[in-house]
Amino acid sequence: MLRLTSVDASYGRVRALRRISLHVDDGEIVTLIGANGAGKTTTLAVISGLMPAASGTITFGEQTVTNWGPSRLVRAGICHVPEGRQVFGSLSVADNLQLGAYSTGLSRQEIRALMREQFERFPRLEERRTQLAGSLSGGEQQMLALARGLMSRPKLLMLDEPSLGLAPIIAHQVMAEVQKLREEGLTVLLVEQNARAALRIADRGYVIETGRIVLEGSARDLLDNPEVQRAYLGKGYREIWE
Ligand SMILES: Nc1ncnc2c1ncn2[C@@H]1O[C@H](COP(=O)(O)OP(=O)(O)OP(=O)(O)O)[C@@H](O)[C@H]1O
Ligand SMILES: [Mg+2]
Repeated sequence: MLRLTSVDASYGRVRALRRISLHVDDGEIVTLIGANGAGKTTTLAVISGLMPAASGTITFGEQTVTNWGPSRLVRAGICHVPEGRQVFGSLSVADNLQLGAYSTGLSRQEIRALMREQFERFPRLEERRTQLAGSLSGGEQQMLALARGLMSRPKLLMLDEPSLGLAPIIAHQVMAEVQKLREEGLTVLLVEQNARAALRIADRGYVIETGRIVLEGSARDLLDNPEVQRAYLGKGYREIWE
């Protein structure tokens, strides 16, 4: 579904991505794990057209989409739920959802139907539909960010650290939602610092260090890899996983 081949990207003179190659197949959950500043957010930004690729190619389905603009990529089916959720705090929950359909070209009727879908998926958001998004808890805001992304009817959902700053039980619920979405046919590229949580639900993963992919494999192999365990999983991972 998605393929990056040798993609480079820079912030001015700072080279953030170096020859990144990765792919996400139809129906997979693929995770990109790495430390602070490794280039995870930048990778997603390049895929969603928020940042240019200096070289390399990106294909989505049959199309080469390298350096397409963000709204064109949204219409093609790529959705990016940003780091830090970035809901519009001074707008209502319902208005935030409406904005998720912005630039999709969907009709009002389709938008209404999509909104109903989100409220069925997240009843909590329906209860709070008229409340300002800024008054929601962190977990609710993450659900709203996810629901807002789904309003563009994506084929590929890219999530940037959806569990960051959430209590473990809420983070768990977010991951369960992601798994449910995949069961419904969505394809997911999941960026996480919480590598254990991500690898538990992913099919495959890539490890990124200072802008380079240094390791890739099945989620199971990465969980079993001593290097990954040492650098990203901390101690005692076995007890928790088994
Ligand atoms: N707006 C920016 N201007 C200049 N350099 C930036 C900018 N954003 C990120 N960088 C640099 O690019 C590199 C990759 O950053 P990126 O945000 O992609 O990392 P990340 O893996 O998402 O990290 P984190 O886990 O902290 O979110 C880092 O060296 C970072 O300092
Ligand atoms: Mg980031």
